[in-house]
Amino acid sequence: MKLVCVVLGLICITTAAAQQNLVCYYDNRAATYSTPTFPSNLSPTNCTHYVYDGVGVTAQGDIRILSSYDTSSGFDEFQSLRRSSDAKLYVLLTSDRDGGKNLTNAISGRSEKLVNNVAIFLEQYNFDGVEIDRRTNDFDKGALARFVNRLRSRLYMINKQLSVSVSPQFTDAYDITSLSLYADMINLHAYNFTSNNAVVANLAPLFSSTPNNVVSVNSTVTAWLAAGARRNKMNIVLATYARSYVLAAEDQRAVGARSTGPGEAGPNTKRAGILARYEICNALSEYGSVSDSVTATTYYFKGKNWISIETEDTLAQKLTYVLDNTLAGVGIASLDLDDVSNTCGTGAFLVMELARLYFGTGQ
Ligand SMILES: *[C@@H]1O[C@H](CO)[C@@H](O)[C@H](O)[C@H]1NC(C)=O
Ligand SMILES: *[C@@H]1O[C@H](CO)[C@@H](O)[C@H](O)[C@H]1NC(C)=O
Ligand SMILES: *[C@@H]1O[C@H](CO)[C@@H](O)[C@H](O)[C@H]1NC(C)=O
Ligand SMILES: *[C@@H]1O[C@H](CO)[C@@H](O)[C@H](O)[C@H]1NC(C)=O
Repeated sequence: MKLVCVVLGLICITTAAAQQNLVCYYDNRAATYSTPTFPSNLSPTNCTHYVYDGVGVTAQGDIRILSSYDTSSGFDEFQSLRRSSDAKLYVLLTSDRDGGKNLTNAISGRSEKLVNNVAIFLEQYNFDGVEIDRRTNDFDKGALARFVNRLRSRLYMINKQLSVSVSPQFTDAYDITSLSLYADMINLHAYNFTSNNAVVANLAPLFSSTPNNVVSVNSTVTAWLAAGARRNKMNIVLATYARSYVLAAEDQRAVGARSTGPGEAGPNTKRAGILARYEICNALSEYGSVSDSVTATTYYFKGKNWISIETEDTLAQKLTYVLDNTLAGVGIASLDLDDVSNTCGTGAFLVMELARLYFGTGQ
C-alpha cells in the first residue's frame, strides 16, 4: 500500500492510494492438456484476484462440476495462490461451455435456489467470490439485474465478493447501472469483438478506425461509462492467446479479408482458431506482420495463415489507456494461455508482468 500526502492549503491528509486490479483467469481445461498447466504452475504470478474457470450450472440452479480434476485437486491447489498477498480467489460460473442456456434459465427461473447454492459452494471450497459469466446476449437484462441484486445481498452476509464478466459485443444487453451498483467488479472481456468467422478481424482493437470498424475497446468502454458504469469497478480483460484464421486467398489479407475458417488447433491446447502464446511466439519470426497505429493492433501472416495476437506494444497501449482513464485495472484471460514457462524468451507470464510494471505493484 502506498501512502500519498495530499496538501490542501494547510491541511495534509494521508490516504491509501488505490492499487489497480490484476484479475488473472485460470481455465481448468489446461489441466487436461498433454503438457498441462496446473494452478501450482501459476505461483510465480502475483495477481490481486484469481478466477477459476469454471463451474457450470444445471437449468434448475444446481452447481455442476465440469471436470473431476476440480474436486480431486484443482480447487485445493488453487488455494495455494493465496500465499503472498491478500489475493482474492473467485470461481467463474461459466456460460461458454453450454452456450449459456443453463445459466440463463437458472437466473430467470426461481433464482433463490441458485443464489443459495452459490453461497454454499463458495463456503465449501473456500472461494472469496463468484464471477457470473454473461458474455452472451441470450438473457433478459432485468432478470440478470434482479439476480445480481439478490446474490449481492446473500453474499454480503457471508463476506464474499461478486463480479460479472461481460462481452464487448452486446453493450445493450446489460442493465449497466444495476450491474455497476451491485457487482464488486465488472470484467469487460475486451477481445473477440465479432462472431463472424468468415472474415479476419483483429482480436482486440484499442481504437476504432473507420465507420466499418466502429467497435473497439475504447468505444465499448466509453459506452459503458456513458451508461453509468463506475470507473473504479471496470476492469479491461486482455487476451493472452492468439486468434488464428485460414485466409480464402493468400494475397487478400487485410483486416476484413475473407477467411475459410479458424486456423489449425494448437498441438497442446487443441482448439481450432486459438493458440496459446507459447504455441506460436517462436514461429512468428517466419511470418510477415502489419501494425496499425490507429487501432493499436498487429497481425501476422504466412501463406494462408493469419494470426492476431497482442504484442508488448499493443499491451502497453492498453495498460496506459486503463491508467489514463482511471479504470479499476485489467484482467488476464488466461494465465494458462500466456507464456507459462518462458518458451518465448521474453519472461514467463509476459502479460501479467507488463501489467505489474505499468501499475507499479509488487516490486
Ligand atoms: C444443463 O442442465 C442439465 C439439467 O438441467 C444438465 O443435464 C446438463 O448437463 C447441463 N449442461 C451443462 C453444459 O452444464
Ligand atoms: C467469440 O464470440 C462468439 C459470440 O459472438 C462466440 O460464439 C465465440 O465462441 C467467441 N470466441 C472466442 C474465441 O471466445
Ligand atoms: C474513444 O471513443 C469515443 C466514443 O466513441 C470517441 O469520442 C473518442 O474519440 C475515442 N477516442 C479515440 C482516441 O479514438
Ligand atoms: C506481490 O504483491 C504484493 C502487493 O503488491 C507485494 O506486497 C508482494 O511483495 C508481491 N510479491 C512478490 C513475490 O512479488
